[in-house]
Amino acid sequence: VRTCISVDLGGTKLLAAVIDERGSVLRREVKPTPVGEGAAVVLETIAASVLSLTRESKEGELPPEGIAIVAAGTIDIARSIIRYAANLKFRDVAIGDELRRLTGLPVLLENDANGAAYGEWKHGAGVGSDDCLFITVSTGIGGGFVSGGRLVRGATGSAGEIGHISIDRSGPLCPCGNRGCVELYASGTAIARTAARDMISGARPAGRVGELSGGEAANVTSRHVAQAAAEGDPYALAVAAEAGRALGFALISGVHLLNPQVVVIGGGASHIGDPLLGPMRETFVRYGIRSMTEPVRIDRAKLGGDAGIIGAAALWFDSDSACR
Ligand code: BGC
Ligand code: NA
Ligand code: ZN
Repeated sequence: VRTCISVDLGGTKLLAAVIDERGSVLRREVKPTPVGEGAAVVLETIAASVLSLTRESKEGELPPEGIAIVAAGTIDIARSIIRYAANLKFRDVAIGDELRRLTGLPVLLENDANGAAYGEWKHGAGVGSDDCLFITVSTGIGGGFVSGGRLVRGATGSAGEIGHISIDRSGPLCPCGNRGCVELYASGTAIARTAARDMISGARPAGRVGELSGGEAANVTSRHVAQAAAEGDPYALAVAAEAGRALGFALISGVHLLNPQVVVIGGGASHIGDPLLGPMRETFVRYGIRSMTEPVRIDRAKLGGDAGIIGAAALWFDSDSACR
């Protein structure tokens, strides 16, 4: 069976896997992304995973044809360069050339959310739809759009930066340069930051979130908010709802721009579930153009944390060699 190595290079974790043509994950390796140590160390860490996964090849498996890598940032798809990745602290990193040099394998680079969009469309919640918008709520917020069975890449491969849609032009500055980007309000990072700030300032008592994080603002994650919200903690529900409403406005912009049939919401922080997604839907229905919002089906992602690697592999097997 044909295989490739898929890599999801996120701001928090680095996931590498051997995936076959049918989209099955055969083996995987997860490591924390050594963000603080610079791009060279990150690339060496990826190469080490690729080589160890390759060495463990099993019988019946053809050797991996190449590396399909998705990364959280804007990219230059033709040159396989990560142009700008705030959470990875990358600027103009020639990931394709470097990984090819370190592993001897050809490389296909794609934005993480674009890869996940393709994965969910092909093997997950978007199956059967023609126009599918995917939004990931994770360290950042990302988006990807499949139209008529094709991933919309844009001129350089960076189409779908939904996390940097501004929902407030007098809002705080985002590292991307814009003001009031939705990811400053509704990403997993933003949700944790809100709770951490409240714990430090005492502006609002952080309830169960404070307990779950051991009273340490620096330890709060969106998982604590998710758990506390699931237990019905009013503070956690309020924090999740604020983020959800922010997300709702970005969703309206995405739907107005692209007119999708299906919207798939994924990413680690989407596990907060209804406390986040309920207010998102209410905002969407209340403020969006009705004739456009009414026919939209909004679903939770099905592939979980594997959407990026499964999508990357699908892109590898579906694309001709043109962009490698
Ligand atoms: C980046 C996107 C990425 C998203 C999710 C954002 O901060 O700009 O490229 O898709 O995070 O990882
Ligand atoms: Na994208
Ligand atoms: Zn931004």
